[in-house]
Amino acid sequence: MLKIAPSILSADFAKLGEEVAAVDKAGADWIHIDVMDGHFVPNLTFGPCVIKAIRQYSDKPFDVHLMIDPAQPYLKDYADAGADLITVHAEADKHLHRSVQYIKSLGKKAGVSLNPATPESALEYVLDDIDLILVMSVNPGFGGQKFIPSQLDKIRRLRDMIGDRQIDIQVDGGVNPDTIKSVVDAGATVVVAGSAVFGGDYKTNIQAIRDKSV
Ligand code: DX5
Ligand code: ZN
Repeated sequence: MLKIAPSILSADFAKLGEEVAAVDKAGADWIHIDVMDGHFVPNLTFGPCVIKAIRQYSDKPFDVHLMIDPAQPYLKDYADAGADLITVHAEADKHLHRSVQYIKSLGKKAGVSLNPATPESALEYVLDDIDLILVMSVNPGFGGQKFIPSQLDKIRRLRDMIGDRQIDIQVDGGVNPDTIKSVVDAGATVVVAGSAVFGGDYKTNIQAIRDKSV
């Protein structure tokens, strides 16, 4: 069953708690939280204190996507703030294996993300330790960008690499009712959607993505 993780990057930041509650009620499976540092990506967003403040607005898993370099010094802060799953970028971490082990030692699920230009081979030696692979289907930093079709091939290759391991493949960027089918057919099990969910009726928007996924 496909999981849909709305990205609160496209929410109204002036009422972030209410937005989290609304998207939970509208049928979100996970809440996707895009953390940006103005260094690894050209944008700045949420510190751990923001995540702590919105934690009470939903019981759904908090899926924290760290677009920060370095990530390692902040992993415990995000875990303590209420993250259930913490994803780091392979490109932002000189010691990816160590970070993955550390996230697991904090009792959280561990994900690793790949930018569009990063090959799937970057994950070969952490495959037995991770719970999720996040394939960026846009260059990270902003919502509302256009899906990069070459990433479909990467998703298919990852599906083969994973074999029978219990690892989710999450796809993030440009996912909407028009692109969802190709993403799911390639092997995605979780999709992030920001601009396709926030705006208009959230429940209708989430359902439209679900309906077009089959
Ligand atoms: C981009 C973020 C995405 C973004 C997706 O750096 O990682 O999660 O919010 O936004 P849409 O769905 O609008 O492409
Ligand atoms: Zn994201």
